[in-house]
Amino acid sequence: MHLSYLTILTALFFHLEANKTAVGRLPKWLVPLSYRVDIVTRINQPYQPFGGTVVIDLRSERSTKKIVLNSHDLAIGKRRAVTLSAKNGNSVPVSSIEMDIKLSRLTVSLKRPLKVNVTYSMRVAFTSVLRSDHTGFYSSNYVDHNTTLTQWLAATQFEPNHAREAFPCFDDPIFRTPFKINLAHPYLYRALSNMPVQRTIRHASLKDYVWTQFVESHPMQTYLVAFVISKFDRPGFTSSERSDCPIRTWARPDALSQTEFANMVVAPLLSFYEDLFNSTYRQKKIDLVALPDFTFKSKENWGLPAFAEESILYDSQRSSIDDQQGVARAVAMMVVNQWFGNLVSVAWWHEIWLKNVFALYLSRFGVHSLRPEWDYQERHALQLYLSVLDYDAHVNTDLVTASVPDESHIWAAYNEIGERKAAVLFEMLHRVMGEEAWLTALRRYLVVYANRTATSSDFWDLLQLQVDRNGRLGKGLNITGIMKCWLGQPGYPLVTVTRNYEDRTAIVSQQRFFITPQFRNRWARSPCWWVPLSYTCPSCQHSEIISFSRWLTCPISKPSSKSNTVILGKLEAEPEDWILFNVQHTAPFRVNYDLRNWQLLNKTLADPNKFRLIHRVNRAQLVDDLFSLAWSGDIEYDMALGILGYLEHEDEFVVWAATEISFERINNVAKRNSNYLIFKTFMRLLLERQFKRVLSSDLTSSSGNMTHRPVIIRLACEYELPACVSLARREFIKGTPEKGGWMTIQERETVVCTAVKFGTEGDRDTVESMYKRSNFAAEKESLLTALACSRNVFALQRVLIWTFESSGVRKQNARRTFKAVVSNSMGYRLAKKYVSVNMQNIRNYCSNSTDKVVNLMTPLIECLSTPKELLYFSKFFKEILRDMNGSERLIKILLERGNDNIHWQRTKFRPMLQAIRNIILWRSRTKRILK
Ligand SMILES: *[C@@H]1O[C@H](CO)[C@@H](O)[C@H](O)[C@H]1NC(C)=O
Ligand SMILES: *[C@@H]1O[C@H](CO)[C@@H](O)[C@H](O)[C@H]1NC(C)=O
Ligand SMILES: *[C@@H]1O[C@H](CO)[C@@H](O)[C@H](O)[C@H]1NC(C)=O
Ligand SMILES: *[C@@H]1O[C@H](CO)[C@@H](O)[C@H](O)[C@H]1NC(C)=O
Ligand SMILES: *[C@@H]1O[C@H](CO)[C@@H](O)[C@H](O)[C@H]1NC(C)=O
Ligand SMILES: *[C@@H]1O[C@H](CO)[C@@H](O)[C@H](O)[C@H]1NC(C)=O
Repeated sequence: MHLSYLTILTALFFHLEANKTAVGRLPKWLVPLSYRVDIVTRINQPYQPFGGTVVIDLRSERSTKKIVLNSHDLAIGKRRAVTLSAKNGNSVPVSSIEMDIKLSRLTVSLKRPLKVNVTYSMRVAFTSVLRSDHTGFYSSNYVDHNTTLTQWLAATQFEPNHAREAFPCFDDPIFRTPFKINLAHPYLYRALSNMPVQRTIRHASLKDYVWTQFVESHPMQTYLVAFVISKFDRPGFTSSERSDCPIRTWARPDALSQTEFANMVVAPLLSFYEDLFNSTYRQKKIDLVALPDFTFKSKENWGLPAFAEESILYDSQRSSIDDQQGVARAVAMMVVNQWFGNLVSVAWWHEIWLKNVFALYLSRFGVHSLRPEWDYQERHALQLYLSVLDYDAHVNTDLVTASVPDESHIWAAYNEIGERKAAVLFEMLHRVMGEEAWLTALRRYLVVYANRTATSSDFWDLLQLQVDRNGRLGKGLNITGIMKCWLGQPGYPLVTVTRNYEDRTAIVSQQRFFITPQFRNRWARSPCWWVPLSYTCPSCQHSEIISFSRWLTCPISKPSSKSNTVILGKLEAEPEDWILFNVQHTAPFRVNYDLRNWQLLNKTLADPNKFRLIHRVNRAQLVDDLFSLAWSGDIEYDMALGILGYLEHEDEFVVWAATEISFERINNVAKRNSNYLIFKTFMRLLLERQFKRVLSSDLTSSSGNMTHRPVIIRLACEYELPACVSLARREFIKGTPEKGGWMTIQERETVVCTAVKFGTEGDRDTVESMYKRSNFAAEKESLLTALACSRNVFALQRVLIWTFESSGVRKQNARRTFKAVVSNSMGYRLAKKYVSVNMQNIRNYCSNSTDKVVNLMTPLIECLSTPKELLYFSKFFKEILRDMNGSERLIKILLERGNDNIHWQRTKFRPMLQAIRNIILWRSRTKRILK
């Protein structure tokens, strides 16, 4: 299951979380052997009941008179609803059944004890109503644009522990069991499940109902079971190159044409990963289903993966390359999960990150195999790395590994940033071990643990085996120890390199990096990490290959200040050469250098003919490090901005993508300051030449590799470079995309945003009506985001209302449009007011999930700049979210961001402005001299 932005949690833990008493798991000695599930669903009416029976074959390894299993919100009649008999026919009378609502457990007490190792068959009849919160077995609806009729569908979302809301079961990932599923539904609907349809027969008593019966599945966990009942269709095209495994993609009929790309990439991805993993995909079919309303981006149910529409629908006319890559990645992650997650699964929720990290990390290779020209591997790796460095630089941050003593803590296991960090570390292992050792370990993992559960230490052990054999890393490197120090400690190091230019050595030391330095001295002794030290320089040959001698070590047994420093000798760099550490982000850390090395780097970057000597990925890292180290006070803004001036001739997308994020952080705080104009002038100066350059380049850059043009245009229009504003308005007037206007898809939002911002009311009306007409989630979202650029209060108000109160925006995208309103300098106050008045509605909108509410509110904090505002939100959140679970921790994380802003505003804004003034002054002087 893959989360949409930060940690997103379903609301359903709340009944569990309310009482924090630790409850043990279900006993392991009572083993389910198979399930047969028969469910009748009355979907075609406002009140949507379902009900049926589950027959569970089970065996107990101990003699017991009690059977405990999970059931939640299911009505189970009196004693007669449960019957039990041995396989040889002797029935075992039930004395009582008892529901524990809080623990969502059903206890069946028997008059006679179960015999050890005898197979029994237990039958439970139940009824319930389709849920509306997108968990368990739920209903959802959409409008068929063709008929304008509302259509209903029923779908499941069982991860982590919602299968119990659809039928009573042993809802614990330790159990892998075959499922035989039969669904009764109106015949106009179609049922899909993990396995192929065995047959369809008329329902004996319900008119117009049929039973769709599915083949029995492989043994799997309850959370991987899935079914969907809908009027969805699949397109006529078929791209399945596999006769043994048909591949289909299902969606609402009027979105069918947008499923082609996703459907097309499944087969090549399957083949790619089969080769990579040396393991055949054994399921009989794959049905991908695009759900209009789905809490998660995707969910890898075995044979029936589910996706949120915008994760999988792609329209070549209206989607950007980013969208297309997102679809490819979502499908690739799903395919990886068929092995890592489904074939080999995790035994308990505290390690759920493991399957997600495999998917996150390994997906990029699949996407790369589809379209090598995208450079996707590089961009994805860099994107994860930068987001981890950003988030993990705070005091309040989460560990990758969370403890989940019982079900009430499952929420702590879902942590998207933690998963990203682990993916960055997987890359580190992969690179330091080398391709062959890494791949061998992956394949062994699939062989050794196929059809079983495994833990992260099982995986580390297999890696260790290869490391020991392969010898590349040298003896004594302990994978478990290394991963323990990275996964078990919050944060990451700032590595400081001080060169001795005479004897070609360097002192390399580490300490934890904090973006706000006021926290630095809180720890008497800085924690330490195992840091692989790779470096490069103009004359370096092979120093990016890491050998065991080049690690900053961290002996767990005796941490001392010594372990935080090493002296590197015999550096290959000449004294007049720059040196650069962490070559293409070998590991998650930042690097600071002595002044002279910074100057040497600056000299090369500033030279338009030489800056490419430094690889673009390293340039992106340098840009990000410079911004962050200046923000934290580790270096001066004079130096940082001085070096960053080289961006005037930087032309790589990855570098500009990193730059954009860093400028946004400054812009968020500076925007409402009276000195904003100085910063804006600097940005225009920086962008002016770039803007001219990208415009004179080829306009049709929309296919193939990414160019930095859309970023430059976005920034140039955001900082209101006059040439950009008039270009955007001209383009907008030229006509709609159908008529060839609005430039490329990547640039469309900028054009529309600028037209809305500077154009007439008529222009805005045009966009509003396009928004209302659009039938395509990604386009709708983009148009609404552009509408948030308006300088009309009423228009902004409408954007807020459309975001939260109409079905226009999918819930998982509300953050993006909300953020657009907040970052509009006219919108901040409006958004703040809207939130204060409508918090209760917003909570309902987020199904009362703490994570979702806090995530949605993040832009308000990211853009705040005064202590008064921080105080206001601090009080407001504590008050309004007080009764929500886990809110204390999340609010802390959130408010720390606000505190960062204020600290920066107080201590660093002026020095930055002074640095900008110096640069402008210096430039105008040199210009005069040149004249
Ligand atoms: C939590 O549940 C336990 C056992 O069910 C009960 O004894 C205890 O009083 C409950 N605590 C609270 C705070 O509800
Ligand atoms: C029951 O089966 C388990 C697992 O197959 C086995 O370990 C155990 O010895 C058996 N117990 C008896 C009493 O047969
Ligand atoms: C929409 O309706 C028209 C006319 O009834 C029909 O021809 C067409 O196939 C429908 N399109 C879809 C996608 O259902
Ligand atoms: C691939 O798997 C087969 C068995 O399925 C095995 O014989 C072969 O050695 C494996 N190849 C590699 C490269 O691991
Ligand atoms: C896993 O189980 C399935 C079905 O039970 C079986 O077909 C397959 O061979 C098993 N895979 C391995 C690697 O043991
Ligand atoms: C590796 O590190 C782990 C955790 O620190 C430790 O338990 C284990 O004994 C170490 N193994 C070796 C071979 O040193």
